[in-house]
Amino acid sequence: MESPNQNVSPEKSGTDSVTPSVPGKPVRIGNRVLASRFSLAPLAGYTNLPFRLVMRRLGGLGLATTDLISARALVLGGGKSLELAETCPEDEPLAMQIFGNDPLVMAQAAKWCQAHGAHIVDINMGCPVNKVTKGGGGSAMMCQPIDTVALVQKVVEAVSIPVTVKMRLGWDDEQITAPHFAREFEKIGVSGLTIHGRTREQGFRGGVNVDGIKRVVEAVESIPVFGNGDVKTIPEAAQMLKETGCSGLAIGRGGLMHPWIFRRLDLWDKTGDPGPHPTYRERLAFMDAHFQSMLKLRTERSACINFRKVATWYCKVIRPGKTIQQELVMIQSAKHFASSIQKIEEILSSREEKGDWHPAEVDIRLPEGPIAHW
Ligand SMILES: Cc1cc2nc3c(=O)[nH]c(=O)nc-3n(C[C@H](O)[C@H](O)[C@H](O)COP(=O)(O)O)c2cc1C
Repeated sequence: MESPNQNVSPEKSGTDSVTPSVPGKPVRIGNRVLASRFSLAPLAGYTNLPFRLVMRRLGGLGLATTDLISARALVLGGGKSLELAETCPEDEPLAMQIFGNDPLVMAQAAKWCQAHGAHIVDINMGCPVNKVTKGGGGSAMMCQPIDTVALVQKVVEAVSIPVTVKMRLGWDDEQITAPHFAREFEKIGVSGLTIHGRTREQGFRGGVNVDGIKRVVEAVESIPVFGNGDVKTIPEAAQMLKETGCSGLAIGRGGLMHPWIFRRLDLWDKTGDPGPHPTYRERLAFMDAHFQSMLKLRTERSACINFRKVATWYCKVIRPGKTIQQELVMIQSAKHFASSIQKIEEILSSREEKGDWHPAEVDIRLPEGPIAHW
């Protein structure tokens, strides 16, 4: 069996606690001051209500966003879109993210979000997937400056809650339009922006263009800009904050890999010390809580199917060995899940916890290219 503490040294696990924090002001979106300046970036298929709820309980999360939801489907009341928009009082503050290219439909969808528990409406201008861009939505909006500003204005006018926009730097290196949009959006009343520091053409390849994010920060007068892309550790967060001057950070994959990142970042931001890494037992308890949250809000079958998608990631961190990992990626029922948890507990009991897992050592496979998935 794989040794749980392989390649983990206590020195390594402690390195981020000495990274100096980058003092910043609390982030305000419209009239709402966020409890932390770290938000969960939407990850379609993962950042659903069951996940958001368990993440929020860990603390440190300033804002979460739904997966992108088709404005048209929402207005027509499509079942899948209603599930994506599902929320509850504990799920606060929440931005509901919509996409589409018809201003009237987008405005109607924004009204729907406002009436169904959203605290913020977020417009998706970053999605690189063909299915979304061929209809003129997602990152395709970055190629139609006039129409796009008019569409966003319609949405802003339709609701009384704040409207934010999430975008990439532009379509490709020749068309870095995000600074232009940022300036225009602020003028028409957009309350905040999230910038993924890549172009649509890049997909997920290559590094994040920190300078590109900085140009967006410099383009606005006062609205908050959340820098986004590849932040998984406190040193990476410190670097993004320092080099771009952004008001806060949106973290996607790093949050799946390491749900404690928000709590630790927030502590680090406010006190300079992120506190300890979670233990294996805490990680296991979190995995259990995630599954129980799915079970509570979905059918047993749907909870199992959804859990299979994240099982490998949890196993990469908890390292229960191949056999249990196989069981979890094929999980069939709540009973099977409970039995796997029990087996992992036995492994943990016999495991002497020497140090802790260092986030940088765990890599999650990413979808590649602009049209693959995301
Ligand atoms: C599987 C997956 C699904 C995503 N879904 C969305 C989405 O629904 N809306 C959106 O604006 N961005 C979406 N993104 C982009 C992320 O929000 C984020 O911008 C990107 O992953 C870079 O940040 P990260 O390195 O912190 O993950 C998705 C990314 C991935 C990998």
